[in-house]
Amino acid sequence: MTAVAIPGVDDAPTTHQRLLSWVREVAELTTPDEVVWVDGSDEEWDRLTEQLVASGTFTRLAKKPNSFWAASDPDDVARVEERTYICSQDPDDAGPTNNWMDPAEMKATLRELFRGSMAGRTMYVIPFCMGPLSADEPMLGVEITDSAYVVTSMRIMTRMGTRALEKFVDAQGNERDFVPALHSVGAPLAPGETDVPWPCNETKYITHFPETREIWSYGSGYGGNALLGKKCYSLRIASTMGRDEGWLAEHMLILKLISPENKVHYVAAAFPSACGKTNLAMLEPTIPGWKVETLGDDIAWMRFGEDGRLYAVNPEAGFFGVAPGTDYHTNPNAMRTIERGNSLFTNVALTDDGDIWWEGMGEPPAHLTSWKKQDWAPGGEELSSHPNSRYCTPMDQCPILAPEWDDPKGVPISAIFFGGRRATTIPLVTESRDWQHGTFMGATLSSETTAAAKGKVGVVRRDPMAMLPFIGYHAGDYFQHWIDTGKRADATKLPKIFYVNWFRRGEDKRFLWPGFGENSRVLKWAIERLEGTAAARETAIGYVPSADDLDLTGLETDRADLEAALAVDVEEWRAEVPMIEEWFDKIGEKLPSSLRAELEVLRQRLA
Ligand code: GTP
Ligand code: SPV
Ligand code: MN
Repeated sequence: MTAVAIPGVDDAPTTHQRLLSWVREVAELTTPDEVVWVDGSDEEWDRLTEQLVASGTFTRLAKKPNSFWAASDPDDVARVEERTYICSQDPDDAGPTNNWMDPAEMKATLRELFRGSMAGRTMYVIPFCMGPLSADEPMLGVEITDSAYVVTSMRIMTRMGTRALEKFVDAQGNERDFVPALHSVGAPLAPGETDVPWPCNETKYITHFPETREIWSYGSGYGGNALLGKKCYSLRIASTMGRDEGWLAEHMLILKLISPENKVHYVAAAFPSACGKTNLAMLEPTIPGWKVETLGDDIAWMRFGEDGRLYAVNPEAGFFGVAPGTDYHTNPNAMRTIERGNSLFTNVALTDDGDIWWEGMGEPPAHLTSWKKQDWAPGGEELSSHPNSRYCTPMDQCPILAPEWDDPKGVPISAIFFGGRRATTIPLVTESRDWQHGTFMGATLSSETTAAAKGKVGVVRRDPMAMLPFIGYHAGDYFQHWIDTGKRADATKLPKIFYVNWFRRGEDKRFLWPGFGENSRVLKWAIERLEGTAAARETAIGYVPSADDLDLTGLETDRADLEAALAVDVEEWRAEVPMIEEWFDKIGEKLPSSLRAELEVLRQRLA
């Protein structure tokens, strides 16, 4: 190997041999002007944010402390599922729901794209830890990126810098393993060339090598494509780790529900992207005396504890939440979190006095700068903010953060909610008969597509466990892993599984259920089911409450709407069966026979 003099590459604040040699190898491939080892300090944040202001990526907000506005390239606004690959040795390990390419072939392709891709730029080395730093086995990663925007976002979303790097060697002096995550926006600069505010490349690859636990991402600077600790590590790679080691990596929020008698239950919920996890995680209950505290809004890692219960940890340290629709009515706690500053806003609108605005925030000001950096006034055709515009804000600013949020032991989960965005068929809430039936509910979960991924919005698709874009291996094996997880525990200790739908509509297309804070009524009913104090009727699809089984104190919803939201329409369900069948056929031979059996039970019950 020829040693090239890249400033900074040897100023490593670590002796970790594998890390050092990987950093050098990447620097030689991508040829940055310099290498910077990220420490996560306030000084570093100030330097990078100032630099991003100077380059036009960031605009400092006058109205929010230490906060910045960014607008992406209009073509780089969401996850690119078509360009996301699971590169297992055997294509059958990626399964029918993932794009696959041979790992050697993919690396050969990517190596040519990465060759010189950081020219004229700084290469940042970000050591990070997903989940608490105090864990017995901290879950480490290193993202190498040529985007300072990514560095500042990773500082909010993960535990990173020096405090993470310290964990790379254990108490015995042994080097720990880490997930190498390589990222480039794919926009090298020629000498003297001025940068654009949002560098990226039309060609994009979001690739995962499950056997070697590696991530290579090229061409995008946005969200889950670029913040590699998030979906790439904590879901796609971690789900394969979980398969091999007997735990679950899931697209779930974690919340703590406290009853008026101060009884505590922790619940997790999996809803597809932009379907309400952040909102539920920060819920303000409308029923008197009930309280919610937040532990996470997007990802849960769940392992069995010594007591046989399933414990959840949130691997993240920040919220990367959908901005439009968020305001003091729908999600006051998210608003309070961002009011405290230290936040990044991407693809929302900018007000003339240096604040942010988006659709759903009440009356718009007379003039805004839109996410496309154009003048914007109310009444026009265009939205001021992209539907997948997001705020990135530190979790520890959340006023209802649960004190145990950073406990490496996690919290014991009493109930799991699966939910999607369905205008018809799926009732407001259904309780499963047992774990296997609950797994069937999750495996057949469906939802209308949203703006969180590139592509058509509003199309119903199966999104098993809200993990369709995030399962790092064969979906059939993933379902079997869920079934097996249920067999590893005493049934009485397993979380009870529920299926919810906040999005059912009436004939006039109105939502039948008011949602948001009112969802606390559904949570309360579910908890009372665990405790054996609430009633339900047994239906073909599971246990469903009648309107009177819910606590409706103070609810203003029309009785007929409520009944329609709770209805189990046998005709609609009969129409659902062939769609489930088609989905199961797509999964193929690896579909667990127990799930086929559940479909048969459903068919018979509907007959
Ligand atoms: P990701 O961060 O993409 O994984 O999504 P998320 O599941 O955290 O989505 P989020 O909570 O940000 O939900 C975004 C959308 O769901 C917004 O348009 C909300 O207005 C809408 N939403 C959330 N909860 C409810 C609800 O109870 N009822 C209705 N009708 N809409 C809701
Ligand atoms: C999602 O799409 O589910 C998100 C946003 O949470 S991203 O980080 O872009 O994946
Ligand atoms: Mn998500």
